[in-house]
Amino acid sequence: MAPARADAGAGLQVRELTVHFGGLTALDQVSLDVAPHEVVGLIGPNGAGKTTLFNAITGFVRPARGTVSWEGRPLRRHRAHHLGRLGIARTLQGVGLWPGLTVLENVACGAQPFLHADLLSALTGTWRSSREERRVNEEAASVLAELGVSEWADRFPGSLPYGVQKRVALARALMGRPRLLLLDEPASGLSIADMEELSGRIRSLRDEMAVLLVEHHMDLVMATCDRIVVLNFGEVVAAGTPAEVRASPEVTAAYLGEPVADPVLAESPAGSAAADDRAPGPTAGAAKAWSDDVAG
Ligand SMILES: Nc1ncnc2c1ncn2[C@@H]1O[C@H](COP(=O)(O)OP(=O)(O)OP(=O)(O)O)[C@@H](O)[C@H]1O
Ligand SMILES: [Mg+2]
Repeated sequence: MAPARADAGAGLQVRELTVHFGGLTALDQVSLDVAPHEVVGLIGPNGAGKTTLFNAITGFVRPARGTVSWEGRPLRRHRAHHLGRLGIARTLQGVGLWPGLTVLENVACGAQPFLHADLLSALTGTWRSSREERRVNEEAASVLAELGVSEWADRFPGSLPYGVQKRVALARALMGRPRLLLLDEPASGLSIADMEELSGRIRSLRDEMAVLLVEHHMDLVMATCDRIVVLNFGEVVAAGTPAEVRASPEVTAAYLGEPVADPVLAESPAGSAAADDRAPGPTAGAAKAWSDDVAG
């Protein structure tokens, strides 16, 4: 399927990206674009390859084939520590905060790729590193305030409600003022109210950056994204506006599977076991919830 095109040289362009893990093809010729200031949703059942795509874009895994370009430049041998300077940030599926650092320190770590102080001045505590440290801490405090979690700044993440931890993880990603933000399931574990707040926040981040959003909560994806790309078994099976994706039979098939021809087989214990063996795929409950969401 042809990806919707961003202006040549602008934003993120993924072309025919293929990733293998041993005999498993986790991504199979995936192409997609994220234009500047666009929010693109990346959805698909468990194991579809969403996190793998983030890992390939950010240099954690090497593709077998295909290209990733960012702001007109191919990203080839980049590594995670280059991302800050490229203007790319991500949050991890889960939370991924350092348990032994306070909330403020965790967020300050997000600025690490941008620091100018050299190792010697940091070790000797000379004016240059201490001034920089003060500036970073002030910025971390201000991002925490923006996200409404200042009161937790001196606490350790493990002692905080999950919704607060997720906001702290987002704050850390925002520290470098990225131009591309990759969010991997930012709403998992959040209350409905927190999800609504998150949706509004992502929409407003759009003024400053492009966002690629992986999420299973379809209400959030539909309300937040300009466009949606659907992966299944490592392939793009649909792409379009939220309304187009909502109406796509390929999307329903990806989540619910093909109709089962033999109802007796489908209802028998052996039939259920066979269905459960079709990994990777969503649980029946998740598929039903998604289908209900999509049907609106
Ligand atoms: N490092 C790895 N080594 C081997 N297999 C992997 C690795 N990472 C992912 N996979 C496999 O690649 C496939 C895609 O996984 P991925 O984590 O990208 O899916 P996902 O769409 O993010 O799923 P979920 O919604 O459950 O997070 C799965 O079959 C997974 O088991
Ligand atoms: Mg994932």
